[in-house]
Amino acid sequence: MRDIGVGIIGTGFMGQSHALAYRAAAGIYPGSLNPVLVAIADINEDALERARAQYGFNRSTTDWTALVADPDVEIVSITTPNTLHREQALAAIAAGKHVHCEKPIAPNAADALVMMKAAEAAGVTTQVGYNYIKNPLLKLARQMIESGELGEITSFRGIHAEDYMADPQLPYSWRFDPAGGAGVIADLGSHIVGMARFLLGPITDLNADLETVIRQRPSAPGATTMRAVELDDIARLTVQFARGCKGSIEASWVATGRKMQLGFELVGSKGSLSFTQERFNELLYFKAGNDPRFSGYQRIEAGPQHDPYGHFCKAPGHQLGFNDLKTIEVAEFLQAIARGEAPSGPDFREAWEIQKVIDTAVLSSKERCWMSVP
Ligand SMILES: NC(=O)c1ccc[n+]([C@@H]2O[C@H](COP(=O)([O-])OP(=O)(O)OC[C@H]3O[C@@H](n4cnc5c(N)ncnc54)[C@H](O)[C@@H]3O)[C@@H](O)[C@H]2O)c1
Repeated sequence: MRDIGVGIIGTGFMGQSHALAYRAAAGIYPGSLNPVLVAIADINEDALERARAQYGFNRSTTDWTALVADPDVEIVSITTPNTLHREQALAAIAAGKHVHCEKPIAPNAADALVMMKAAEAAGVTTQVGYNYIKNPLLKLARQMIESGELGEITSFRGIHAEDYMADPQLPYSWRFDPAGGAGVIADLGSHIVGMARFLLGPITDLNADLETVIRQRPSAPGATTMRAVELDDIARLTVQFARGCKGSIEASWVATGRKMQLGFELVGSKGSLSFTQERFNELLYFKAGNDPRFSGYQRIEAGPQHDPYGHFCKAPGHQLGFNDLKTIEVAEFLQAIARGEAPSGPDFREAWEIQKVIDTAVLSSKERCWMSVP
């Protein structure tokens, strides 16, 4: 197994998740690549030193350009606020590095397109952090759709709701900055849009309503002055899929009480599926035509029969965790690099497709009408 040097930019929520995943990923698909934590970068010196020591990086820097230029770094992992993704990814691609970037890939589809074209021209491998679709049970759901097990799909109802912005006293932060793109439709909505595309394919048209609920927030932690918020707190979309069916997609970061309501109900002529990330080791399946006395949803429990669950644990029902999904994402990325193949996704091209849906939703809400996704 050959070593491959990894540099991570950012030590926040996702910086930690990426560091843990790169530490764990070597054992998942033996014979792939062995990630070595070479360097970590952050502008916050205290957090940087803590992260370097905690995860065992060889070196740290407050200058991300030094990390990108480091000859021992072959993979650059970007876990910074959205406004920085484009500049950092383009620099890494120009230096010939493989790039693992957090979602949303960029503030808008035009930036995403530039990033995608640069990566494809350079021939580097890319991966974007849509970790939730790495769930083995979602792969099963997609297989059930593709094999016709559910018949003709007639409806999709998707949601990603959390409450981390519900407190009006929560101060203004980078997530409210319009320079980083849209609000919740980009931050959480991109996950459920990506999941909908993963399961059912392209979205061709949509009608969106984006709403700002908390219109001002303290301008900084502890500040008494307020700052206006323009970005969306709730997004409601009606969507048309290229395959013919329609659906609805909702995203909210002010859904008081909800911590991780990322899920869907998907209805087909021969059966239906129901899923929530709050219980992500389970998939509910209704099969039409059963003896009416036993009619109802059955609970499928994740186990080693659902690849790659078995690479983590040989016992069914013992359950994967959030960081395991990130580890699967990293392990598949490493395999793609090792084999010189396209990653199983989502890569920069798929992230650009998702970003086009987000941009169209913003525009549709402004214009108050249905719009085609370009
Ligand atoms: N895949 C997921 O499930 C998921 C979950 C949360 C966040 N995200 C995405 O991850 C990214 C980061 O989100 P987060 O929640 O980790 O944010 P965070 O605020 O916790 O961390 C961001 C880090 O970037 C650092 N940073 C800022 N400017 C920098 C610079 N110029 N150079 C180096 N470091 C810099 C900050 O100091 C901070 O440590 C965002 O794009 C977000 O949308 C993805």
